[in-house]
Amino acid sequence: MADEPLVLGIETSCDETGVGVVRGTTLLADAVASSVDEHARFGGVVPEVASRAHLEAMVPTIERALKEAGVSARDLDGIAVTAGPGLAGALLVGVSAAKTYAYALGKPLYGVNHLASHICVDQLEHGRLPEPTMALLVSGGHSSLLLAPDITADVRPLGATIDDAAGEAFDKIARVLHLGFPGGPVIDRLAREGDPEAIAFPRGLTGPRDAPYDFSFSGLKTAVARWIEAKRNAGEEVPVRDVAASFQEAVVDVLTRKAVRACVDEGVDHLMIGGGVAANSRLRALAEERCERAGIRLRVPRPGLCTDNGAMVAALGAEMVARGRSASDWELSADSSLPVTVSHVPGVSSVPRESSEPHDHGHGHDHGHDHDHDHLHELSKDNLYS
Ligand code: KG4
Ligand code: ZN
Repeated sequence: MADEPLVLGIETSCDETGVGVVRGTTLLADAVASSVDEHARFGGVVPEVASRAHLEAMVPTIERALKEAGVSARDLDGIAVTAGPGLAGALLVGVSAAKTYAYALGKPLYGVNHLASHICVDQLEHGRLPEPTMALLVSGGHSSLLLAPDITADVRPLGATIDDAAGEAFDKIARVLHLGFPGGPVIDRLAREGDPEAIAFPRGLTGPRDAPYDFSFSGLKTAVARWIEAKRNAGEEVPVRDVAASFQEAVVDVLTRKAVRACVDEGVDHLMIGGGVAANSRLRALAEERCERAGIRLRVPRPGLCTDNGAMVAALGAEMVARGRSASDWELSADSSLPVTVSHVPGVSSVPRESSEPHDHGHGHDHGHDHDHDHLHELSKDNLYS
């Protein structure tokens, strides 16, 4: 284990400042500072508020993660950071922090994809992912079915939502029901006491001519909102638990049906589910049931690893190091719409830094990063403050 890569990962794509430390596929620390309470009164994440919260939380969270892991920053083999997709301003805080630490410490920097990280995190819980991996990613910002022959270099989108993300639908319905934000956990809880068959809400994009792996939750959202409105207009009480259960059933029915179908069609005998909505208890139960029936092994990380966190970024970073993927260079920037097919952002030129610096280090390796740490440490201090 000691020779596996030790990587620190930084995640700031939305409202969670996450910093994780992993060694290979072993989780050493997962520190998270959330600004979710600051957004609650707005009913959704406010980008400017998130960016500011990241800025304030960044250094303390990095220090907390290193302390929790019991390692020194000098021992790291690399620093990974979410380069996208996500909120531009929020991502920028993480990317700037990662670059600064990597530069000052003389460590390789890996700008990685948020979605690929959501998949890779399962290695921390259930060991190496088989290849290819089929992944259903469902959160407040994304709902995708991905086929990943190689999580570090080859991730193929099979389908995605054409309107709202699954978590977004939970959040919007919770708002209509006056249940607060985020909506997923509270709907999950209330649904346990409701009847999932009480109301037949529509299953989007499940017709014979619909795209087999795409999702649509906007029609469902409208149907639920109309149903509630009609009850209210008629002066009747809204059966919140039944609405929650029936709405949730419509979402997880479609998600699991399409995911299992993708596995069968592609001949993949296991499925991983990640993202915040993967914390949903009914989604887990139904996926388990349907996977078992189809002979598919289900892998779902524990809820804390499903929501946005730094450990998932560190996990993918460690995989990049282990597989010898080239590091990012100092030009790395946040890309709010980084395509899912880009697992990580490699450096543009093979030796980007050496050429722009006053000293000739005489290194010819293809990393775009210097392994002569002590020498680089001195240099970088000059550069950082000049
Ligand atoms: O992955 P995540 O933390 O952040 C994003 O990248 O969006 O996911 C947050 C989303 C929110 O929409 C939240 O309502 C949803 O995940 N969520 C849930 C549950 N827990 C969180 N949705 C359904 N059931 C849950 N138990
Ligand atoms: Zn996410």
